[in-house]
Amino acid sequence: MIYAQILAGGKGTRMGNVSMPKQFLSLNGKPIIVHTVEKFILNNRFDKIIISSPKEWINHAEDNIKKYVSDDRVVVIEGGADRNETIMNGIRYIESNFGLTDDDVIITHDAVRPFLTHRIIEENIDAALETGAVDTVIEAIDTIVESSNHDFITDIPVRDHMYQGQTPQSFNIKKLYSHYQDLSADEKQILTDACKICLLAGDRVKLVKGEIFNIKITTPYDLKVANAIIQERIAND
Ligand code: CTP
Repeated sequence: MIYAQILAGGKGTRMGNVSMPKQFLSLNGKPIIVHTVEKFILNNRFDKIIISSPKEWINHAEDNIKKYVSDDRVVVIEGGADRNETIMNGIRYIESNFGLTDDDVIITHDAVRPFLTHRIIEENIDAALETGAVDTVIEAIDTIVESSNHDFITDIPVRDHMYQGQTPQSFNIKKLYSHYQDLSADEKQILTDACKICLLAGDRVKLVKGEIFNIKITTPYDLKVANAIIQERIAND
């Protein structure tokens, strides 16, 4: 089975003082999360599309889905305390409702990246089926400067080797689940990136090319950029 999981379990604190988590804020007249879900329902390879929401926003998320989306593959469930726990809650939901087979894959995507493309989704599915762990990235634009003491430069890695991580991140479900269960509580705290869990377990993680416009809406500035992207697309249609 091929699952999509839209990660909408966060509170969006960096968006500042807004009335709801950023994934539910309006972008050109529709909640951001609806723009994202619409990209996934266009792909008929998905057997199920799981939306993970904060518990207190599940009803709101379901109302949005009912209003804008008509697709019985979509289900809304509760997220987790952190991003990886949100992914794991999705996997536990799959395990208890459909069971897990060795070949099942999950395409996980930030609800607040509404501009992903059909190509990115397709390449994630294909690479997940083939390799079991996938990250979507773009080449680093700026030189990356490392400072482990937050005061002086400790390294300047070769820019040609640097990429910026986006989503989707896609996995063989059984492998990711088992790697996660092998982690200590401390490791779970530190390993905030699901691909890093696979990497540390010794798996190879395949790169899929993202897009510069596949931005994550994190701050009020990003929301302005997202609106500008949409307006430009409308003007060019
Ligand atoms: N996310 C999630 N479950 C969590 C935390 C985050 O599903 N417990 C999701 C967010 O909803 C978002 C994506 O992961 O779609 C990317 O995370 P980020 O932009 O950091 O979102 P928030 O945690 O909501 O934002 P902030 O860090 O500003 O509070």
